[in-house]
Formats: sequence, C-alpha cells, structure tokens
Amino acid sequence: MDFNGRTALITGASAGIGVEFAHQLAARGTNLVLVARREDRLVALVEEIGTKYGVKVSYFAIDLSQPTSGSTLIANLAQTGIDTDILINNAGFATNNKVANEDRIRVQAEIQLNVGTLVDLTIGLLPAMQAQSFGAIVNVASTAALQPVPNLAVYAATKAFVLSFTEALWGELRGTNIRALALCPGATESEFWAVADISSKKMVGMQTAEQVVRVTLRELDKLNSRPSVISGYTNKVQAQLLRVSPKRMTIAIAGSLFKKD
Ligand SMILES: NC(=O)c1ccc[n+]([C@@H]2O[C@H](COP(=O)([O-])OP(=O)(O)OC[C@H]3O[C@@H](n4cnc5c(N)ncnc54)[C@H](OP(=O)(O)O)[C@@H]3O)[C@@H](O)[C@H]2O)c1
Repeated sequence: MDFNGRTALITGASAGIGVEFAHQLAARGTNLVLVARREDRLVALVEEIGTKYGVKVSYFAIDLSQPTSGSTLIANLAQTGIDTDILINNAGFATNNKVANEDRIRVQAEIQLNVGTLVDLTIGLLPAMQAQSFGAIVNVASTAALQPVPNLAVYAATKAFVLSFTEALWGELRGTNIRALALCPGATESEFWAVADISSKKMVGMQTAEQVVRVTLRELDKLNSRPSVISGYTNKVQAQLLRVSPKRMTIAIAGSLFKKD
C-alpha cells in the first residue's frame, strides 16, 4: 500500500506496539493522529515524530473505554477537519484473573476498549474510506484469539471477537481498495505485561514491537493481503499445532501460562 501523504489514526499510541506503528508509518510519509489517555506521552511523541520524519502529527487524549468514546473521537476529527485513510485499532489491555475473581467494572472497560470502541471506530470511519475508494483498517487481535485461555478468559474472548469481526469485514471489502487486517501478535515486549500483572518469563518466542509492526505493514503491502496475520515463526507454528491438538490439552496448557503465583 502507498501510505505516503495519507493519514493514519492510531489508538493506543502512547506505548508499545502503537508507538512503533507511529514510527514505521511516519517513516513511510504517513501523517498521524495519535490517541491514548497519557497526554504527556502523546505530546512527546508528536514532537519526536514531527521532527524526525517531517509528517503532520496531532493527538487526542481520550479514554477509549467509555461507550461514548468513539463518538467523541469522531466528532473531534470532524471539528479539526481530519480525514482518516488508515485506522489502526490497537489500544487494548488484559485482566488476568479467574472469572469469579474479576473486577466487574474493570472488565466492562476491557470489553468496551478491546471490542466496543474498536467496532464503533470501524463503523464510524469506514464510510469515508469507501467514499474515497481508499483505506485500511488494522484491528489488533492476539494469538490469544486462537484458543480459550483460563485466567485470561475475558481478554482471550475479546480478541476472538476482534479476529472474527475483522476477517468478516475483510470478506465484505474484498475486491475494493480498502483493506481489513486482523493482526495476531504473540508475546511482545511492551507495557502490556505490567498492566495485566502477568510475568512474561514463561513466554517463548517473545517479539519486539518493531518486528510485529514490520510484519503488519508488509502484509498490507501485498496486492492480495490476507484477512489476518500472525507475527513470528514460533507463533505461527503454535497456531498450526492448535488446529490439530485436542481442546482439553490446549486449554490446560494456555491456562498454565497465565496462572498467578
Ligand atoms: N504485548 C503483547 O504481548 C501483546 C500480544 C498480543 C496482542 N497485544 C495487543 O496489542 C495491543 C497493544 O498493546 P501493547 O502490547 O502495545 O501494550 P501497551 O504497551 O500496554 O500499550 C497499550 C496502549 O493502549 C492504550 N490504552 C490502554 N487503555 C486505554 C484506554 N482506556 N483508552 C485509550 N487508550 C488506552 C495505552 O495508552 P494509555 O495508557 O496512555 O491510555 C497504550 O498506548 C493491545 O490491543 C494488546 O491487547 C499485545
């Protein structure tokens, strides 16, 4: 895809994979709109990216875990006259508890952020992409979407939703000049682990955000990009094994990785 001179909206752009999307897209000449809650981080990144790559960068500090967040963000974009060609729905977090011990309020925020706002922004921004016959929507799922995960049940279910929703959207957009792509990273170095209070020690094939984003943009560069992409060789092998392994076994293994000490 030619990203040069286009505008990408990146949610979760204050840390981890979102920051890396900002750098790699800006390096391709893409103007950026960065969204997250931590305004100080966004301000610093706007400054850094603008200076380093010479693209236009703006930001909105918004909590996307509220049911009205998508509408607020879309209204802000309209007010400032920003047209979005590329949507990177990346913001997300995990809660790491047995279902009976989950905090109901925090889980509502997790579902709204990982699923509700992602769907809302997709529906809100897609018509303008269709009107101009150009666009891309990258929804960040996870390899946790590929199997149920005890102790991470809500998170894995939100990511299974993202994967299914995005692959269906890919089907709807097939043959148009708009790409939909679900990204399934495996364990990736970022603040994700600290936020979820999970140790990453047991994870194999840990990737960097740089590797994950490179795989994503390379997929979008293909003329016939696929509905979803798994980043990393180890993660791809694990995904193949999951297809042929008994569910009782895969659920037990997945759960053992996320058990709290
Ligand atoms: N790291 C992994 O191993 C891994 C693996 C598979 C999938 N993923 C997925 O990759 C995506 C990016 O995660 P990451 O690894 O880069 O984690 P991260 O370093 O913790 O970054 C998460 C980003 O989401 C933003 N965010 C969190 N809550 C928000 C809210 N309520 N409103 C607005 N923004 C919010 C954070 O910004 P603020 O805190 O400033 O709001 C931050 O910019 C997530 O969807 C995650 O589920 C990660």
